[in-house]
Amino acid sequence: MKIYKAKDYNDMSRKAANIISAQVILKPDSVLGLATGSTPLGLYRQLAEWYEKGDLDFSQVTTVNLDEYKGLTKENPQSYYYFMHENLFKKVNIDAGRTFLPDGTEADSSKACEDYNQILHSVGRVDIQLLGLGHNGHIGFNEPGSVFEKETHCVRLADQTIKANRRFFATEEEVPREAYTMGIKTIMSARRILIVVSGADKADIVKKAFFGPITPQVPASILQLHPDVTLVADEAALA
Ligand code: F6R
Repeated sequence: MKIYKAKDYNDMSRKAANIISAQVILKPDSVLGLATGSTPLGLYRQLAEWYEKGDLDFSQVTTVNLDEYKGLTKENPQSYYYFMHENLFKKVNIDAGRTFLPDGTEADSSKACEDYNQILHSVGRVDIQLLGLGHNGHIGFNEPGSVFEKETHCVRLADQTIKANRRFFATEEEVPREAYTMGIKTIMSARRILIVVSGADKADIVKKAFFGPITPQVPASILQLHPDVTLVADEAALA
């Protein structure tokens, strides 16, 4: 695993954006695995800025996102589709027809997961998978105790995750209890993994995930077995 220590959040975002941008420059038709959440916001802002300057071209890129809340429509500002559209897709020249997320409006969980697996198989191997790290060690919505061999599946969110995501909703009751997520098997099949982490509140879980034993209780710990992982974290998270 390569570890890049960034001074602060902005430095982390720039360093990680450089890695994604090199990927797109070297292979314009890359398949990018993308994440939502607070951590990648600065990275997406940076990519959009470089696109504006003419340094990046997303016209041949395909994207597949990690997860989506079950029950939220694309128009719902809390849906991950909306997040991706607002923070990246509408700001760059990506072909909307080549941006994929699980369909949160599909009420039949098996169908939603099967459909997304089919999409993932059809786009081919992910060139670089961007990940954030949950306070409980989750990656995507693969919560502690998750089976390492799964592809896309429907999960019940852990209480800690519901509380952590509460900040985006008016009330805790509004936070969806279920989500569709890429499984760890799919995440691990990406050619490269880029994980971004920021803040002192993540220092404990960074230590457990990357320097502790590999266990389903800390889903991100499985990344220790991936041959090409880059962790970009700020000093606070690496403390
Ligand atoms: C987002 C996702 C989650 C987040 C994680 C960290 O698509 O799958 O695993 O990456 O919850 O979230 P933030 O960055 O908000 O701390």
